[in-house]
Amino acid sequence: MSGGGERPELERVPETALWTLWHRAVEARRPDAVLHDPVAVELVERIDYPFAERFGEVALVSQLQALRAACFDREVADFLGRHPRGTVVGLGDGLETQSWRVDNGRASWLSVDLPETARLRERLLPPDGRRRILACSATDHRWMDEVDPDPERGVLISTEGLLMYLRPTEVRELIAACAERFPGGALVLDAVPRWFSRRAVAGKLRDRHYTAPPMPFGMDADELGKLAGAHPAVTGVREVYPEGGRGLVRVVLPLARWIKQRPSVVALRFAQS
Ligand SMILES: C[S@@+](CC[C@H](N)C(=O)[O-])C[C@H]1O[C@@H](n2cnc3c(N)ncnc32)[C@H](O)[C@@H]1O
Repeated sequence: MSGGGERPELERVPETALWTLWHRAVEARRPDAVLHDPVAVELVERIDYPFAERFGEVALVSQLQALRAACFDREVADFLGRHPRGTVVGLGDGLETQSWRVDNGRASWLSVDLPETARLRERLLPPDGRRRILACSATDHRWMDEVDPDPERGVLISTEGLLMYLRPTEVRELIAACAERFPGGALVLDAVPRWFSRRAVAGKLRDRHYTAPPMPFGMDADELGKLAGAHPAVTGVREVYPEGGRGLVRVVLPLARWIKQRPSVVALRFAQS
């Protein structure tokens, strides 16, 4: 399942956009998939890149990645239920295909990513009337000028698979800036546990053909409350648990909530001004 015409030239952290895309596609092509993502399957077929050789094909990893994406989908779908004309900002959006999975035909979607990834997205998933792409670092708050701040329309910032690649101070500053700039808005993030971050920083997250880039930001599940300290306007911190799953994963995931050193997805709410 690879071959098509587009040849991506991504390295280090930008290359991880291909990793997440691959795992969503591997899961989505199964008849019993936990995530319906036909656009991801199609993209992998259009991209000339040795996905299977580089990233391997482990059904468990793909299922867990898809369940993580489904957590973000539920938050976005819920947000769009309350704000049908709202804006969803995907920071570090890579080749995420969420805007096809949960679109309501009225929302605005802004994908923000580093220039090399944004260029690839533009070629593969060109912008249209409601979907825009901005080449800009998430840590360069210029992207905020592109978002309609009207609290009536609503803003949700999704940072799926991004914050672990930033420094802890950058994470804090980003959350604080969003809380200040988007009163009444929300931000959804995911965090890897500290042990995982340490292994990635030491270059020890590797298999035969691929070494994951450093992940300087890690947070255990019992520390999530600290996110409220980023800014006084962060008024809600709620963990979003994966739901469903297949086989043993379905049984083990609810039990894993008791483990503190595990990955987590978190929804932050910002106070109205
Ligand atoms: C693991 S991928 C996640 C992609 C997508 N959100 C998904 O879940 O499939 C990480 C993404 O973050 C982007 N990225 C890394 N550092 C960034 C930064 N400072 N600003 C914006 N994007 C960044 C990379 O280019 C890549 O697309």
